[in-house]
Amino acid sequence: MAGQGFLNRDILSTKDFSRAELDLIFNTAKDVEENPGRYRNTLTDKRVALLFLEPSTRTYGSFEASAVNLGCKILSNRNPAVTSITKGETLHDTIKMIESYDTDCIILRDRRMGSSRFAAEVTDLPVINGGSGSREHPTQAMLDLYTILKERGEIDRVSMGFVGDLRYGRTCSSLSYALAGFDDVEISFIAPPILQVRREVEIYLEQRGVSYTKSTELRGAIPGLDVLYVTRIQKERFPDPTDYERIKGSYVVDNSVLALGEEGLGVMHPLPRVDELSPEVDSTGHAWYFSQAANGVPVRTALLSLVLGG
Ligand code: NCD
Repeated sequence: MAGQGFLNRDILSTKDFSRAELDLIFNTAKDVEENPGRYRNTLTDKRVALLFLEPSTRTYGSFEASAVNLGCKILSNRNPAVTSITKGETLHDTIKMIESYDTDCIILRDRRMGSSRFAAEVTDLPVINGGSGSREHPTQAMLDLYTILKERGEIDRVSMGFVGDLRYGRTCSSLSYALAGFDDVEISFIAPPILQVRREVEIYLEQRGVSYTKSTELRGAIPGLDVLYVTRIQKERFPDPTDYERIKGSYVVDNSVLALGEEGLGVMHPLPRVDELSPEVDSTGHAWYFSQAANGVPVRTALLSLVLGG
């Protein structure tokens, strides 16, 4: 398949992708779902390094499953506690070492802001950001958009609510940047003041003419939404733990909240959830979050295929 500008490309931020490029990813992901045999074992000569220095279930697992589908060899390092980073090794040196192991691509998750962009400057290999600090998680945003496309038929004209930790949650900013490339999108940011969306995200949306509102009250924001994107409070990213203690449990999405919305209101969540999304929602038609997570495999298979030239 022609990479059309994707070959050996870094995937660092959703800001770097045009709508046409996102469409290519979605079309490829759809093809992966419809014709899996076309992709199976097409990249048996490629070696993919999974360097996950923060906890992960879905991002790691779906990249691994995608690499396995494509027949890639996997070099895995997912426990920072047993790497030389605990001895004080820099990210620069870690990336240089991985590069020397005859790798074709590095998929990195790291708690530090800007870590993937830094890694991409250190190495000529393509770097895929699997989550960097509290700012960016581009491949999550791509699978989120793909989910909206599959469930609604289009991304344009979506009325999107984000609730939860919009300050430290990297999925919210990456998805907001990506949504700005679509037509007539409306965003409602719902959060306690100390967890509201960061100003830099607002500026990005304002520059692109995306209409958005901010509120603290969940129930009042529900009517008229097409999608409610729920996020976990990022306990591990709070500079002051007393702020977390004060704010935890401050909103819960359950069936009584969703009853205020439209019948077709979809609930998304990047997962893991803690207590912000009641399990009673799981058995309702609102629950998109498990199929959203499953969409990680076709989207990441598509990305690896495009970047590695499958
Ligand atoms: C998210 C992350 O790591 O940013 N999880 C994921 O990748 N699906 C969300 C979170 O940890 O809250």
